[in-house]
Amino acid sequence: MHNIVFGWLIFGENSNILMNYIIIIVSLAIFGFFLGKFIKHKSLYPFMPFKYDFRKRRETFRLSLQLLKQIRARTIIETGTSREGLHGAKSNGAATIVFGKWAKENDAFVHSVDISKESVENAQLEVNRQNLQNVVEIHHSDSLQFLTNFEQSVDFLYLDSYDYSNDIEVQKKSQAHHLKEFMAIEKQLHDQTIVLIDDCDLPNGGKGKDVIAYMQKNGWRVAVDAYQVLLVRNDFVIEELK
Ligand SMILES: C[S@@+](CC[C@H](N)C(=O)[O-])C[C@H]1O[C@@H](n2cnc3c(N)ncnc32)[C@H](O)[C@@H]1O
Repeated sequence: MHNIVFGWLIFGENSNILMNYIIIIVSLAIFGFFLGKFIKHKSLYPFMPFKYDFRKRRETFRLSLQLLKQIRARTIIETGTSREGLHGAKSNGAATIVFGKWAKENDAFVHSVDISKESVENAQLEVNRQNLQNVVEIHHSDSLQFLTNFEQSVDFLYLDSYDYSNDIEVQKKSQAHHLKEFMAIEKQLHDQTIVLIDDCDLPNGGKGKDVIAYMQKNGWRVAVDAYQVLLVRNDFVIEELK
């Protein structure tokens, strides 16, 4: 009888220790999971609400916003609009809304052009939700046609239209299209114009491959080479943040 009681006490004590270990390990795993998520989360807070994760575009968006201020940008053009609204921050970038918000706060204007009716409608819904109708116009058109007819001087050009994919033929068409976009608007760019190109750090050079090569031969330099590539004129000086 004594042995049974003694054995039970020992086992009971061990099972308590085991339970404590399990609780500690599970808590650490949950903490690690959320810590990892927090570290990976790249918000543009306080400019945009913290919950939106701009991930691989955060730093180039940040620098672009700083440069927009430096050059006192008034006219912004985006090819390929924010078809998923702000919810596409991580996947597509939500640039229409990011630059639209900057435009609203800095007396500028965003022209965003897209060939797809659905993309235009979705982006327009988000523009309305964010109350940016007075500073963002979404044009339903092929980007080449729109850019060829655009007559104002452009301060910031963001190229992000023809979707890139794993298909080599699609990649070449996307690269050629982005080069044609640049050439269509080139005469409207000035000494301080900033150019940002999306989806570049991808197999076979991404959307920017052809246009970057062309620009580098024509007086432009790469200021940031990341998932997005940011280009300025060779003699453009990026001022230190004050
Ligand atoms: C990646 S999305 C743009 C994402 C957007 N810039 C953002 O930050 O959320 C690409 C868009 O380009 C559009 N597009 C594709 N070919 C185009 C063309 N030739 N002219 C204008 N837009 C085009 C597509 O309809 C699609 O909506």
